[in-house]
Amino acid sequence: MCGIVGYLGSRQAAPILLDGLSKLEYRGYDSAGVCVMSGGILRVAKAKGRLAVLNGLIDGGKAIEGTFGIGHTRWATHGAPSDVNSHPHMADAGKIAVVHNGIIENYMRLKQQLLKKGKHFQSETDTEVVANLIEYYYDKLKDFPRAVRRAVGQLEGSFALGILCQDLPGTMIAVKKESPLIFGYGDGENFIASDVPALLKHTRKIVHLLDGDIAIITKDSVQFYDAFFDRVERKIEYVDWDISAAEKCGFDHFMLKEIHEQPTAVKGTISPRIRDGRVVLDDIKISRDYLAGLKKIYIVACGSSYYVGCLGKYLLEKTCRIPVEPVLASEFRYSAPVMGEDTLVLVISQSGETADTKAAMMEAKRHHARTLAIVNVVGSAIALEADDVIYTWAGPEIAVATTKAFSTQLSVIYLITLYFAELLGTIEPAEYQSIVSEMTKLDQKISLCLTRENVAKIRYYAEQYFTARDAFFIGRNLDCGVCREGSLKLKEIAYIHSEAYAAGELKHGPISLIEDGTLVVAVCTVDALFDKAMSNLVEVQSRGAEVLGITTENREAEFKVKVPSVITVPETHPMLQPSLTIIPLQLFSYYVALLRNCDIDMPRNLAKSVTVE
Ligand code: AGP
Repeated sequence: MCGIVGYLGSRQAAPILLDGLSKLEYRGYDSAGVCVMSGGILRVAKAKGRLAVLNGLIDGGKAIEGTFGIGHTRWATHGAPSDVNSHPHMADAGKIAVVHNGIIENYMRLKQQLLKKGKHFQSETDTEVVANLIEYYYDKLKDFPRAVRRAVGQLEGSFALGILCQDLPGTMIAVKKESPLIFGYGDGENFIASDVPALLKHTRKIVHLLDGDIAIITKDSVQFYDAFFDRVERKIEYVDWDISAAEKCGFDHFMLKEIHEQPTAVKGTISPRIRDGRVVLDDIKISRDYLAGLKKIYIVACGSSYYVGCLGKYLLEKTCRIPVEPVLASEFRYSAPVMGEDTLVLVISQSGETADTKAAMMEAKRHHARTLAIVNVVGSAIALEADDVIYTWAGPEIAVATTKAFSTQLSVIYLITLYFAELLGTIEPAEYQSIVSEMTKLDQKISLCLTRENVAKIRYYAEQYFTARDAFFIGRNLDCGVCREGSLKLKEIAYIHSEAYAAGELKHGPISLIEDGTLVVAVCTVDALFDKAMSNLVEVQSRGAEVLGITTENREAEFKVKVPSVITVPETHPMLQPSLTIIPLQLFSYYVALLRNCDIDMPRNLAKSVTVE
């Protein structure tokens, strides 16, 4: 969601802030702004729209001189996207400037109190309340850090803040509670940011602020304080990403680059965890006795991560014989789930910062359920709070629509399934060996889905169908899980209304929506259900649907008898097939979106990590 960048040093701040913000665009935003201390006063420039608008307004930063400042990309929550609601927000008397990521839940109450104390407000935002509250205490205490501390103590909700005070040039205060914030060490200069890509050009030496932290920063120093305002040391980390991880490297979009990175990402996730033909999960401390006493596994996640959970249900239940229920994280807390020490709550999140998922995980912890998180971002909130973590080594994912994170999450589900099944003795050794052997080839088979020839074929079908108004994705069993993800991709980036259904369910209602020309993407790879799935497909075809089929290479001829438009993927062990079937669906959505001139990496209204509930 919102992106924060802050800079203190000897270089011109505004161009650095603008560049940093451009690296956070992927988080999703609708307006942007900067505040720079210039000639002794805090000067703000902000505008609704893309960064290009702000860039134009301040001539790439040249129009505001000054060597320290804060910048922000806003994803609207309180108040519509507009110039006035954009950040940074100035307090009434112009002494305090604030950028904020998160939500202040009690802002209305605070605003009423501040209005009574004579403060005036320009915007509809919760953030302006923070600026005014700090200024109120600053006027009373004449001490910037203490004023921040007093104000923060009254805030409820989630917030990462970057704060400047006009009377204290050269000092910035950063505060973190629940929303992510990073401090970056430079040489005679220092930085803050919401995420690593904004800092990569300048430093790799960072600190992830912890909840409750307040950092007092100058260009040469930083002091960290905890929630009690006690001085603390924070662990310095070194980012080892290749800078290309945050660049497009010749691809037109991050999404396309990330689709093509999937063989490497999947290999990087699987291969360190397979040794001598066995799955080894050093990452977790789960014993056979614990698993044998388990009554239930919940899988809790949002969006694509949830769809990985839906696939996980089929795999874990079938192989480990433990009841598994995937639940949307936003619903989990409010559905009174039955859980306790004999429940494992598997939490899946690329960002590790998704507010709904984190809240669901904390609820599980309150009920003494064990939590196991599958997370991509190292050091993220969910990774830090979970009892056990398995990282997906996908590398940074920039495009809002997930691809390689989805694939690596699925790879971890395979690893967990095999690991649990072996411990529980619910899998035949020969079957175990055959799956492990296929897993080691999965990256090569994904590469086969991405050959120039296959991509061209998918592009051809995208050209046939890109004008579709509606689409259905149908499949059975694991294919149904893949359909959910394929359908979400088309909605997210191509803005086509699309629904995913279990193929057998169609005749119970939704088939009434099928008419001449309706696009139906049918995924048929599950051997045992092939004939049934084909019958469902013929049912929609005979009602006028245009069917695009996805099947395995060995089924192509049989498939074509009924459906001429077919994309094939290589065969693998049936349990692993979703990792291959999803690839053409990702590419199909990508090319459809391209032909519809959509903003593929930053689809409208969406944010990469959703840090509000
Ligand atoms: C996927 O393409 C989406 N952008 C979205 O559904 C995402 O998977 C969801 O918001 C969960 O994010 P997380 O994995 O970072 O928790």
